[in-house]
Amino acid sequence: MSGKVLIIDDEKLIRWSLEKNLKNLDYQVESAASGEEGLNRFDIFCPEAVILDNKLPGMQGLDVLTELRTRDPRLVVLFMTAFGTIETAVEAMKRGAYDYVNKPFVFDEVRQLLEKGLYVQRLDSEVSRLRAVERRQFDTANVIINSLRMREIISLVDKVARSEAHTVLLTGESGTGKDLFARVIHQRSFRSALPFITINCASVPETLLESELFGHEKGAFTDAKSAKRGQFELASGGVVYLDEIGEIPLGLQVKLLQVIENRVFRRVGGVKDIRIDVLIIAATNIDLAAAVERGSFRRDLYYRLELIPIHIPPLRERRADIVPIAEYFIQRFNQEFHKKFVGLSGEVKDVLADYDWPGNIRELRNVIERIIILENDDSIRLEHLPFDLRRLFETVKMSSGILPVQDLGLVIPDGGLSLEAVEHELVVKALAKCAYNQTRAARLLDITRDSLRYKMKKFNLLSKLQK
Ligand SMILES: Nc1ncnc2c1ncn2[C@@H]1O[C@H](COP(=O)(O)OP(=O)(O)OP(=O)(O)O)[C@@H](O)[C@H]1O
Ligand SMILES: [Mg+2]
Repeated sequence: MSGKVLIIDDEKLIRWSLEKNLKNLDYQVESAASGEEGLNRFDIFCPEAVILDNKLPGMQGLDVLTELRTRDPRLVVLFMTAFGTIETAVEAMKRGAYDYVNKPFVFDEVRQLLEKGLYVQRLDSEVSRLRAVERRQFDTANVIINSLRMREIISLVDKVARSEAHTVLLTGESGTGKDLFARVIHQRSFRSALPFITINCASVPETLLESELFGHEKGAFTDAKSAKRGQFELASGGVVYLDEIGEIPLGLQVKLLQVIENRVFRRVGGVKDIRIDVLIIAATNIDLAAAVERGSFRRDLYYRLELIPIHIPPLRERRADIVPIAEYFIQRFNQEFHKKFVGLSGEVKDVLADYDWPGNIRELRNVIERIIILENDDSIRLEHLPFDLRRLFETVKMSSGILPVQDLGLVIPDGGLSLEAVEHELVVKALAKCAYNQTRAARLLDITRDSLRYKMKKFNLLSKLQK
């Protein structure tokens, strides 16, 4: 193992022997003969570990320890005490030393403690890093909700979280926030202090999924050298989040249904029933009803999961959320990348609100994050947007110049339609609305009676009405 170690001891011989031995093991080593010198060295050298003697000229080891730990709370400190001074050792541990060694010591003892301390320190940093990544991905404290539809959904989410439900089905296109809402349910439930375990059913190979979920007994299959608990057992009392539930193989669907209905299961190769109390949140971005029709998803399991469904609509069906979510991401990425954007220009707001966001919130987040990383400006302007979005602006601008002042809310279907057919339909509807009184129908359409009669003839309505 390598790393940077600082030795603080006034005994020259000890400094020399520790330094030599540690350098042989590839550590970078520096040393100091007093607490004061040690603290100065510490600031320049920035070691990961310090081997610290208690009896020093001037500042005592215990005080140096306190000072070191305030400068770096993760620092690994190995404290050296004279034989028989156990109280000092206890005090050092209280002040945050990783461990202590009694002098005289054998080097191997120091080496082992140091390796273990550094290992734990690295694990600790790694855990913090992963937690930060996770917090960054799923910021449950900041779920942005503005549209009426989402306000209804969040109150449903709250109700579900406070209930004693055992299953919930989250549906919605990719990037709509299923993972986020699963975590919100967990955090707002009485299970929040217990684990939240995610299993992506699509990414675990079919042959391993059963043992991953339910565990196995020793010897259950060739590789099962020892018994292993599955995720359902590990989640004990908490939440099991089954992402991409549509991908779970048919055979396992039976077992899952049994777990849901009876809340017991057996490990692979096991004969003992194991009871569990977990909340199963299943999520999918495919149409499960269609999968049932195709025969790739069991109808009984589908009905069971459908008991409490929460559907998260795509962004394009709740456009009122787009700008507030974009503004939230601006704040968040400002902080992360030390930028000073204050908001979106008016044009950009229009474009974002008009765009269909096939990748939903994930796509919106990526667009904003990219701009904040690359640009330095006070607000997000049109020229910062990706090409596709800018092009959308051109079409929006063009059409807004020629649109009538009053928006009739007519929607053109994706496949298009014929203008003639629209005219035909409107004439028929106007006539029907006026009980076929042609003068009034003409007035409704703001045309003369003659022109109405002309159109009626064109659409062959006169003859039909006379019949
Ligand atoms: N209302 C919201 N407010 C703030 N951030 C949100 C909101 N909804 C989703 N997000 C964020 O958008 C990103 C995508 O959401 P998430 O991963 O939950 O989507 P998903 O539906 O699980 O997608 P997939 O089906 O691809 O797994 C996440 O970073 C999430 O935190
Ligand atoms: Mg997801």
